[in-house]
Order: sequence, then C-alpha cells, then structure tokens
Amino acid sequence: MIESRPEATGASPKAIRAHYDVGNDFYRLWLEETMTYSSAMWRDENDTGSLADAQRRKIDWHLRHSGADTATTVLDIGCGWGATLRAAAQARAPDAPPLLRGVGLTLSDAQAELGRLLATQARLPQIEIRIEGWADHRPAEPYGAIISVGAFEHFTKPADASPTKIAIYREFFARCRDILAPEARMTLQTIAYGDPDDEVPAGPLVEDIFPESELPRLPEILAAANGLFEIELYRNDRRDYGRTCELWAANLKARRLEAVELVGKDQTRRYERYLKFAAWGFWSHRLHLLRFRLKRR
Ligand SMILES: C[S@@+](CC[C@H](N)C(=O)[O-])C[C@H]1O[C@@H](n2cnc3c(N)ncnc32)[C@H](O)[C@@H]1O
Repeated sequence: MIESRPEATGASPKAIRAHYDVGNDFYRLWLEETMTYSSAMWRDENDTGSLADAQRRKIDWHLRHSGADTATTVLDIGCGWGATLRAAAQARAPDAPPLLRGVGLTLSDAQAELGRLLATQARLPQIEIRIEGWADHRPAEPYGAIISVGAFEHFTKPADASPTKIAIYREFFARCRDILAPEARMTLQTIAYGDPDDEVPAGPLVEDIFPESELPRLPEILAAANGLFEIELYRNDRRDYGRTCELWAANLKARRLEAVELVGKDQTRRYERYLKFAAWGFWSHRLHLLRFRLKRR
C-alpha cells in the first residue's frame, strides 16, 4: 500500500466548493439536461448532434472503455451530480449483471445533495455519493471499474513544480491501482496544457475561477502512470471541448437575466469570460482534452 500524504491532494475542499457550490440552479441554467460538467463527445466535426446527445455519447464512451457497463462495482472519482453513475446502473451491456454498488466521490456539498436526490428519484439505491477526496477513499472491496472525468485538473496546485505534480499524479494512479480488481480498467478524462512552447496567458483568470488548481501536461501523466497502468489508448479531443464551451456560453447568454438574479452580475461576468477564454484555449491548441483507457498492471 502507498503511504498517505495529506498535502498531496491538490485543491482544498474550500477551493472546490468556491467553484461548484455556486449553486445547482445556476449550473442548471447553462448545462444541458444530463447536468454534466465536462467536455461532450461528437462523432466528428460534421456531427450536428445536440450538446445533450454528445454528453450521453461521452458518458457511454467511459462506461464501455472502463468496463463499467458490465462491472458490478464502479467508482466515479469526481462524480459531479452523478450522471455517469446513474448511466452505469441504467445502461448495462447486453447480458451484463446488474450494478450492485456505484460509488461517487465529490468535494461539493451542493453536488452531493442533488446527486443523492436524483439517484433516489431514479430508484437507484445502489448509488452512494460521498463527500470525500480520492486520497481519503478506502473501500472494503476493490472495484470492477473506475471512471474519473474532469477532476484530475484539481489534483495539483499552481505552486507545484513538475516533479511534485508527477509525484502527486503517481500517488493518485497508485491509489486507483490498489482499489481496482486485477485486470480491470479505468478511464480518465482531463484538460491538459497543449504544446509546451505555447503560452497560456490567462493564468490569473483560470486561478480566479478554479482556485488552487493546476493543469497537467501529457508527459507528466505518462510518467506518473508508468508501470502502474498500461495505457491502452489515449486521444486528444480538444475540439470537442472548444465546442462544448461555446455551447455553454450560448446557453448562459440566453439565460443571462436569470443567472444575474441567482448569482449576481460579477459572478455571471466571471463565468462568461472563463467560458470564452477556455473555448479560445481549446481552439488555439493551448489547451488539450485528453481521454485515456488504462488497464491495471
Ligand atoms: C468538473 S467536475 C466534473 C464532474 C463530472 N465528472 C462530470 O463530468 O460532469 C469535477 C469534479 O471533481 C470533484 N473533485 C475535485 N477534486 C477532487 C478530489 N480531490 N477527489 C474527488 N473529487 C474531486 C469535484 O467535486 C467535482 O465533482
């Protein structure tokens, strides 16, 4: 077993809440009906499908590639409002046994509260949403599949130098390996900095919106996973995230009056600027969106 290093947990619960506890009603205004807060997935650039359909495709990709659609126990690290876990229970592969236990980890009270309610309304008592960071999670039994989408971005801080980031990511992968059944898989989706020479000039804007969080670079992820997981595939779907951010921004624009009513003018403006900046980052190659399928070694 790896040693616990409490300082290696990236953004603090307080910093995470500063972002995600802005309010479920606010996020409901501009996310689509799945309440998924990460990049969607289109078939290709000619795919004219809706954001909601593309979010369902993304969830389905993670279920199939991690094996969560056949596993009887599934962990979602950074589960948001629980859409992926509900799909893991409801969208089983043909002839797969039912999902017996789906555990989601979030640091946001607001997400946990709504996620629990939605699981209850869907009559899915096997889903448990915990307010707990990955470093503190100690399950009694290993899981059959792990999914982590959009949480890795919070695991290190801006002050962490690259060797520290790699050590923290390695600790994360070692923990996942420890709590995953032999031969089982996990999928990971994360934003990453693009080419090392490309400048990302809006650091302070990102820090204002995502306090205490720093993005990884691909070589750091590869170094951290080396020997713990076999990287079976990875892809860079940055255009998917550029498109997702633009659609979120358009949704927020359409519901601007309600947004201002809920969270105020300044907060609404901060989100408008951040969505615009993020879309530019993905389109201009400065930000990448990486999706991995990893097999436990
Ligand atoms: C951008 S949201 C993504 C939510 C969801 N996976 C989705 O795709 O809609 C990031 C999630 O990561 C969670 N998170 C951040 N740091 C975490 C940590 N150290 N351990 C577990 N979850 C964490 C947040 O609470 C939030 O639920």
